[in-house]
Amino acid sequence: MTLKKRGKNNTPVMYKEIFQQPAVLKRIIDSHTKTGKAIFDEFGGYGLKRLAKARRFIFLGCGTSYHAALCGNYLFEELAELNSEAEFADEFAARDAIIEERTAVVALSQSGETADTVRAAYLAKKEGAFLIAVTGGRKSELARMADAVIDLRAGRERAVAATKTFTAQIMTLALLSVFVSRLHKLSAAAEKIIVSEAVKLPGEARAVLRQDEHLGNIAGGLRRISALAVLGEKLHWPIALEAALKFKEAAYLSAEGFAAREFRHGPLAIIRKGYPCLFFAPHDSVYRDNLRLAKEVGRLGGRVIAVTNEGGGIMEDFARDTIIAPKTLEMFAPVLSAIVAQLLAYHIAVSKGIKVDSPRHLKKVTN
Ligand code: F6R
Repeated sequence: MTLKKRGKNNTPVMYKEIFQQPAVLKRIIDSHTKTGKAIFDEFGGYGLKRLAKARRFIFLGCGTSYHAALCGNYLFEELAELNSEAEFADEFAARDAIIEERTAVVALSQSGETADTVRAAYLAKKEGAFLIAVTGGRKSELARMADAVIDLRAGRERAVAATKTFTAQIMTLALLSVFVSRLHKLSAAAEKIIVSEAVKLPGEARAVLRQDEHLGNIAGGLRRISALAVLGEKLHWPIALEAALKFKEAAYLSAEGFAAREFRHGPLAIIRKGYPCLFFAPHDSVYRDNLRLAKEVGRLGGRVIAVTNEGGGIMEDFARDTIIAPKTLEMFAPVLSAIVAQLLAYHIAVSKGIKVDSPRHLKKVTN
């Protein structure tokens, strides 16, 4: 089934915002890279000193911003080899977390007004953390209290379901991880390669968006499902969580995100004939793990939908549906995968007659 595109004026805002992502990515890359280097002018001399001295990074956020925080954790630990962790902002505040010396707290909030995140940031700062706000709310409460503010450069997001602000968060964190790595050990040559891959992302995002009709067709075949498992490993675990959140809030599905290897420790029991499982399986360092699990799910009768890269041909051979994303570095692949998930969630929602811009029970800022 091909879903008809709507006329300009009644096109849902969520759909428009999904399509703004190549432009948002370009704006971020233009602002944060120069001659093969990552740049963040947001840190003045003193800020830069504190950033360079930080030995522990804590990424905080709620909902979608928490998923971006989890990406931050992977990026900082893998590339910069810095001690880092991610936590729900609300839980961090609730348990009165311990902040050691030389700790930087990166608070992620699209709005900058989410009460739980603002409270966590306030407590972290009170305990002496170097507070970095990554937010679209430049004049928000969070921005006002932060030591350094990194603007998301995504423009205003009106749809309740976050789309462009999420990819803006993870793109910003990826470049920030490069910048911080350079303060420690990243070589100029390695940085140049990373930046040259980053600049290709807006075009690659456009290539994903060009598959809109294909994604609409896959979504059409999923419109009667009530539950869905979403699986990914490493950096794609947060993407699996985020995708599941999009399926919940936009399409009202009981979707659950899983770390792929973890799925075999119990959740595998939910698989029955036709049970849909969306795999994020680009050709990266964990592709083999994903492949093995996807095969097992297929053998048990589950319906495998795979987001992967071209070539290799193995995943495509047994997945019922395949979405091919352009190949990029492992650290950037989540950006493209997130767009796939957003479009799938959007199309399933529309095919069910849901008003995607105003999901039931939800509002844009939770305070
Ligand atoms: C989901 C969504 C929410 C927000 C969360 C935090 O699409 O938008 O999960 O991410 O309420 O909001 P911010 O980022 O404004 O702090």
